[in-house]
Amino acid sequence: MTYKIAVLPGDGTGPEVVDEGLKVLKAVAAKENFKMDFHFYDLGGERYLKTGEVLPESVLKELKAVQVIFLGAIGHPQVKSGILEQGILLRLRFTLDQYINLRPVKLYPGVDTPLKDKGPEHINFVIIRENTEGLYTGAGGFLKKGTPDEIAVQESINTRKGVERCLRYGFELCLKRNRQLKLTMAAKTNVLNYASDLWARTFEEVARDYPRVKTDYTHVDALCMWMIKNPEWFDVIVTDNLFGDIITDLGAMIQGGLGIAAGGNINPHGVSMFEPMGGSAPKYTGKNMINPMAAIAACQMMLDYLGEKKAAERVEKAMIQVLGKHIKSMAAGEMGHTTREVGDLVVKCL
Ligand code: IPM
Ligand code: MN
Repeated sequence: MTYKIAVLPGDGTGPEVVDEGLKVLKAVAAKENFKMDFHFYDLGGERYLKTGEVLPESVLKELKAVQVIFLGAIGHPQVKSGILEQGILLRLRFTLDQYINLRPVKLYPGVDTPLKDKGPEHINFVIIRENTEGLYTGAGGFLKKGTPDEIAVQESINTRKGVERCLRYGFELCLKRNRQLKLTMAAKTNVLNYASDLWARTFEEVARDYPRVKTDYTHVDALCMWMIKNPEWFDVIVTDNLFGDIITDLGAMIQGGLGIAAGGNINPHGVSMFEPMGGSAPKYTGKNMINPMAAIAACQMMLDYLGEKKAAERVEKAMIQVLGKHIKSMAAGEMGHTTREVGDLVVKCL
C-alpha cells in the first residue's frame, strides 16, 4: 500500500515540526510495511510575499488528488492577518469540504495540566467542531461603511444537512470510542432562536437512530466552566464552527498546551488534512526549540484515519513513553531536548 500525501510545511516553525512528523511517519511505515509518497508545496507567507500567490488553482487541483494533507502552520508576521488564514487554511477546509474539525483532548501521563487535582483519568474526550458553516462562511457585509451610521452584518449559516452530518459523526464516534457512550452538544438555545434551535431539533431527531448513546446538552458558556471543573464528564462534544474554535483552544490548554494539541480537518469521503494546533510561532523559527509533539500527534491521527491502526497505536505508545520519561515541559525551549531530539526519541521508542 502506498499513500499519496501532500505536505504543506508552511510558515515559521511549521517546517521544523513537520520534519519531525515526517521522520516518525517514515520510521513507522517501514516497520508496518506500507509506503508514503510525499508531495511538498511551499504555500505560506514567503511565497505570498515573493509572488502574490496564496493558493493557486493548479495547487488546489493537485491537492484534490491526494489522500491526506499534512499542514505545518500558516501565519507570517509581515502578512496582514487574515490573508493566509482565509486564503489557505479556510479555503482548503471549505473547498475540500472538510466538515469535521476533530480535536482530541487527551492528557497523557507526565504532561502538566493547569487543572489542579486532575490527571489523565479525568481528561480524555474529543471535540467535534463543525468546520464549513456557521460564522465562518463569509456571509454578510457592510452598509454605509466608514460613516457614523455604519452597519456590519456577519451571518451564521447553519444548514440542516451540515448540522446533521456533524451530529451523526459525533454519535458514530461515541460508538467507536465505546467509553461513556455520551454525546454532549453545546449551543446557545437560550439566545440563538434560529441557529441553536436547528441544532437542538436535529440532535433530538438523529439521537433516535443511536439508542445506545446518551445525549447531553449544555450552553456553550457553561461548557467552558464544566471543561475546567469536571472534564471527566465528557466523552464526545459537538458544536458549531465558532463555538468550536473557542472551546478547542480551551481544550488544548487543559491537555498540556499547544506543544501537544493536534487536530484533523476531516472529510470522511474525501481529502482530509491534519495539523498541529500551535501556529507558526515566528519568534522560535530556526532555533530547534519548538515542541514537535503536536505535529507527531497530528501524524498519529492521520495514520488512524488512513486505517493504519497498528501504526497509529505504535506512534501513540512511543509518544507516551517520550512524554512520560524524557520531556520536562511542553513549552518551547523548556523540553530539556531540541526539536530534532524529541523526534529522534519518538522514533527510537517506536
Ligand atoms: C483554528 C484557527 C483558525 C480558525 C484560524 C487560523 C483561521 O484558529 O484552526 O482553530 O479560526 O479556525
Ligand atoms: Mn482556533
